[in-house]
Parts: sequence; structure tokens; C-alpha cells
Amino acid sequence: MIDLLIESASNDMLVGGDGRSYIDFQSGYGSVIVGHRNKAVVEALTAQADKLWIAGKCQHNQLEQARQLIQSFLNPEYSVAELYSTGMEALEFSLRLAAVQTGKKAFAGFSLSMHGKSLATSSLSWDNGFALPNFHRLPFVDSLPEPELLAQIERLFESGTIAAFFIEPIQGTAAGHQASPDFYRSLIALCAAYNVISVVDEVLTGFFRAGYASFSLDHDMSPDVIIFGKSIGNGFPVSAVLVKNSIEVTPAMLPSSTYSANPLACAVVCATLKEITRLQVSEKVGVIQARVLECITPLKEEGYGLRGSGALWVIEPPAGVSAGQLGEAILEAGVVTSYTDRYIRLLPTATITEINLNAGLEKVLETCLGY
Ligand SMILES: Cc1ncc(COP(=O)(O)O)c(C=O)c1O
Repeated sequence: MIDLLIESASNDMLVGGDGRSYIDFQSGYGSVIVGHRNKAVVEALTAQADKLWIAGKCQHNQLEQARQLIQSFLNPEYSVAELYSTGMEALEFSLRLAAVQTGKKAFAGFSLSMHGKSLATSSLSWDNGFALPNFHRLPFVDSLPEPELLAQIERLFESGTIAAFFIEPIQGTAAGHQASPDFYRSLIALCAAYNVISVVDEVLTGFFRAGYASFSLDHDMSPDVIIFGKSIGNGFPVSAVLVKNSIEVTPAMLPSSTYSANPLACAVVCATLKEITRLQVSEKVGVIQARVLECITPLKEEGYGLRGSGALWVIEPPAGVSAGQLGEAILEAGVVTSYTDRYIRLLPTATITEINLNAGLEKVLETCLGY
């Protein structure tokens, strides 16, 4: 937790309980893409709140509209199977889907990826001492060359037990590492050859945070399942599971829950996606990427790691420099970043003003250089 009480927010700024304004490079864990309290999104949410909050097992108009709008950004080979409230729930559903579809019960992912914090989803990437036994965590390309890693994955698949393999295309919560598109395509082909469901988790990267509507579709990866979250709701709790049309979603996969396909969430998704198009978010994120690279690259000469894409950047300070202390100093300078003890993440909203983007980046740079 960052020691800052937030009273209100607007577009790219946060106002603290002490009345001080901060440039927001955190954007609610990277979920705000068209600005805090975006007017069109607020109006859609308010109108829906005045009409229908929850429909249970019944149909409602907003759901079909949200489905169609999400699909319109993607490839017609995929359909929205379900909308949930959190990324973790969407990932949990894909675990059940894979188990039913393949008849197998073990799962695999890469260490230090992020797929959620339920017992099962956290077991895909972390071993905190309580990881489930049939969850396998492989190293990633930062510690093993891609061909060796593929060979290790194939040996695991030869056991015949793996139902699904989970990929976070850019490791946005840890160090920002990503594998080559060729590696991802080979891994997905390997999944297909061994009857393993391939799941690409685009909860953070998707809908333009990393510059693409979908990283996997933009790179011709063609996985079985793609998960979105964060940006599709501009900070409202909603996630989406997109499944290849060749896979039939059955009751045995236990789809839906009390708050799945919630009318408020669907209204927000519709308004957010329309704003993403109207505001040309894709172009805006390209400008952010160019500006970050221009401004922050000098840190590399001082031994800092800088990885990411679009409006998703991870700074890794050199050994001996605490990212947590740097994050606090950057906060003191008036910029809220998303920091842990090892990394500082810069996740501005796509609608950040040029003035705030430049001022924020300069404060990050100055603070790091002066440390
Ligand atoms: C790539 C990725 N997947 C899944 C999740 C989990 O989403 P949620 O926190 O909404 O459960 C996150 C959260 O940060 C994430 O970054």
C-alpha cells in the first residue's frame, strides 16, 4: 500500500486528502485508460444505475452490446464466453474450461507472471509456500534461452497431464520481460500439438495499455483463450474471457456467477470502448511510448533496467538502490507510480496531457538520477 489518501481524481491527476495534487502514473493498477471520471463513462454508468443493476440469469441489452463491441476490436474467430468482475475470476474460469475441454488436471505458467491472487491463479506463477501441487511454474526468458525453455515445456507436455498453459505476454507486475513473438507462436503450436489449452492473459496489456488491442492477435499468436480486464472497464471491475469459436462453453465449465455480465459493468465497457475509439487511444499510447523512451532512456546508462511498451513501463533500479525508497521520493516530488521493493511501474492514462506527461517523466528521471 502507498501511504497516500486519495480524495478525488480527474483525468490524469489525483487529489490527496491534504489537498495536494499528484500526477497519476499508476492509474488504478493500470486500469484507467481514457482518464479518471471520463465524462462519457460516468454518464453511461449513472444512466445504467438508474435503470438496471443486476439481471441474474435473465438477458439484458447491455450484455449483447458489450460483447459485440469487445469482439469488434478483435478477430472474428473469437467470441466473448463470459464477463466477470476481476481478472482472477476470468483466469479461474479458463482453468475450469481447460480441465473440462482436455480431461486433464494440471496447469503451467511462467514464474513471476501475474494471473491473479486466488489459490489456483497465484499457484501458476508464485510459490509462496501454499502453491497447489499440480501447478507447474517454469522459468522465463530472462533466465533461460528460448530454445531451452521450449524443450523444457515440451518435456512437461509429454507427461500428458497438462490441461492449460498460461502466458502473460509482457510481465507487467514483475520485471517487464517479454519473449519474442516467434517463441510465443512456437509455444502455442506446441500446446495445440499436445492438446493443451493455450491461454494468453492480456488483463494488463490488453486494450491499448501496451499499444495493441490484443498483443496475441497483433502478433498472429492465435491462442485458444484470451483474457482481458482493466482497460475494458476504465477502472470499473470487469474482465472478459474470449474463446475460439471452435471451443464450446458447457455447463460443466461452471460459467457465470452472481456478478458476471453485470449490467453496470457492461454499460461501462460499452462507453469505455467507444471512448477508446473516439479519443484515438492507440495513437495516444504511441506518443506516450516515444516520450518515455526519449526522456527515461538516460537511466539505462546509470545501470537501470527499462522495459515495456505503450503506456506500460517497468523501471528496475541497479543493485543496492531500493525501488521502494525511490517510489516514495517520486511520490514526494508529486508523481504517484506503482512501486514495490524491486520495481517502479509507470502506467499513465492514455489521455494524459502533454504537460503532465513531460513533467511526470522529468520528476521520475530527476529523482532517480539524484538518488
Ligand atoms: C496480467 C494480469 N492478470 C491477472 C491479474 C489479476 O487481475 P485482478 O487483480 O483483477 O484479479 C492482473 C492484475 O494485476 C494482471 O496484471
